[in-house]
Amino acid sequence: MKKLILTAALSIAATVAITACAVQQPVDINTMSLEKTSPFETPTPKAYGENAGLYRETQMGMPAMIPHAIDNFKITRENNPCIMCHGNQAKIGAAKVKGEATAMPATHWTKVNGKLAVSASRHECLLCHATQADVQPLVGTVH
Ligand code: HEC
Ligand code: HEC
Repeated sequence: MKKLILTAALSIAATVAITACAVQQPVDINTMSLEKTSPFETPTPKAYGENAGLYRETQMGMPAMIPHAIDNFKITRENNPCIMCHGNQAKIGAAKVKGEATAMPATHWTKVNGKLAVSASRHECLLCHATQADVQPLVGTVH
């Protein structure tokens, strides 16, 4: 009889112990998804802006990225507002100065009737030069 009571007591103790171990810990809601925020929040991406102002050197021979907004500079057949600032012939080939509009390099010019003119193949600047947006690259690159 004593043995039976002891066995019963032991088995109750074991059951209690097992139940204690099996108690589920609540899962932290913030670790449930790959999002860095709570699933109940709407993550707001950083506002997109063209006027990034940052300028990362492009590789040698590549068209430089445009570090400013260009919404107000519409290029038409008759008029190219970019030349107003980037067409200073006296500065062709001059070193870049931060904050100043670099003059288009010699490759962009041609001679018409003995005078320098912007080469027709360079008239549509945006074929080659793209604006730089204020966003971080999704994936890093070593190039
Ligand atoms: C009102 C003057 C102005 C106009 C118009 C303008 N830019 Fe600029 N641009 C600047 C200035 C100033 C900088 C230099 C900004 C800096 O260094 O932060 C610049 C920088 C650039 C650069 C980078 C050059 C470098 O030194 O690496 C490119 C490319 C460029 N602009 C292209 C264009 C194109 C294409 C247009 C027309 C759609 C245009 N820009 C219109 C003033 C102007
Ligand atoms: C066919 C492609 C093409 C077109 C169109 C073009 N560019 Fe470029 N641009 C380039 C390349 C490539 C470079 C760099 C290599 C070089 O010197 O030619 C460059 C260089 C420049 C630079 C010097 C940037 C630096 O880092 O020194 C300026 C400023 C510039 N371009 C402005 C303009 C403007 C303004 C127009 C429109 C009137 C224009 N480009 C049209 C391809 C182009």
